[in-house]
Amino acid sequence: MTDLPYTVLSCAMSLDGYLDDASGKRLVLSNAADLDRVDAVRARCDAILVGAGTVRADNPRLLVRAEHRRARRVTEGRPPSPRKVTVTRHATFDPSAAFFATGDSERLVYCASRSVAGTRERLGAAATVVDAGADPSMCVVSEDLAGKGVRRLLVEGGQSVHTQFLSTGLADELHVVVAPFFVGDSRAHRVVADGPLPWNRSRRACLADVRRIGDVVLLRYALSDRFEQHEPTEEGP
Ligand SMILES: NC(=O)c1ccc[n+]([C@@H]2O[C@H](COP(=O)([O-])OP(=O)(O)OC[C@H]3O[C@@H](n4cnc5c(N)ncnc54)[C@H](OP(=O)(O)O)[C@@H]3O)[C@@H](O)[C@H]2O)c1
Repeated sequence: MTDLPYTVLSCAMSLDGYLDDASGKRLVLSNAADLDRVDAVRARCDAILVGAGTVRADNPRLLVRAEHRRARRVTEGRPPSPRKVTVTRHATFDPSAAFFATGDSERLVYCASRSVAGTRERLGAAATVVDAGADPSMCVVSEDLAGKGVRRLLVEGGQSVHTQFLSTGLADELHVVVAPFFVGDSRAHRVVADGPLPWNRSRRACLADVRRIGDVVLLRYALSDRFEQHEPTEEGP
């Protein structure tokens, strides 16, 4: 059996643990230096996954931005940016969203069986729609991505997707950036949804690294035995 992709969960949160502010507009929690760090993390991955909610709310491009990182990937025989991946049950996507309309990397939409036909019709050539079964799970998605050659997967949210990767034990590492402000609105999304998670008061996660990046803090947690203590640098593997 092919190994599941090495999976990194990444998010930024407010001091009170929110991913957004319920305004319906994208909330920038990070700063320029940290966004550049995330760009470097993206550049090391084979695929970037976000939930359909994030595609709709944030309209992310999910591309590697820095030209030197794009060029290096091409030198290595890889596309300039990783594959883009999303998951959906209802598939209410706008095909002109940046997820579909920017960059040349392959776009994969893992879709509940009942929505596959309609989604293929709606998205046309903008994405490959994969039938992920009646009730898709992140395990099925990870296994399929592994079969497609994805060795390293970056999951960039949102709440629902992060919760599922964490609760099913599929995450190898977690990056949380803490922004220096509060949201103070319980209508916003917290980092994870309610419910039990494998890391709790009787099983504490392993804090592997803490880094100050300007006015934000990066917390890096090791969540599996596969955890890579030393992050690959930009200079070498
Ligand atoms: N601060 C950060 O770092 C950060 C990062 C990313 C996102 N966000 C924020 O997070 C919020 C979105 O969070 P969210 O929890 O609503 O959205 P999400 O996790 O991005 O996406 C949830 C959606 O994904 C699909 N989905 C989830 N699990 C599925 C499964 N097992 N099978 C099939 N489809 C599945 C469903 O799509 P359908 O509804 O289409 O069926 C579901 O509504 C946004 O406000 C965004 O700004 C913040």
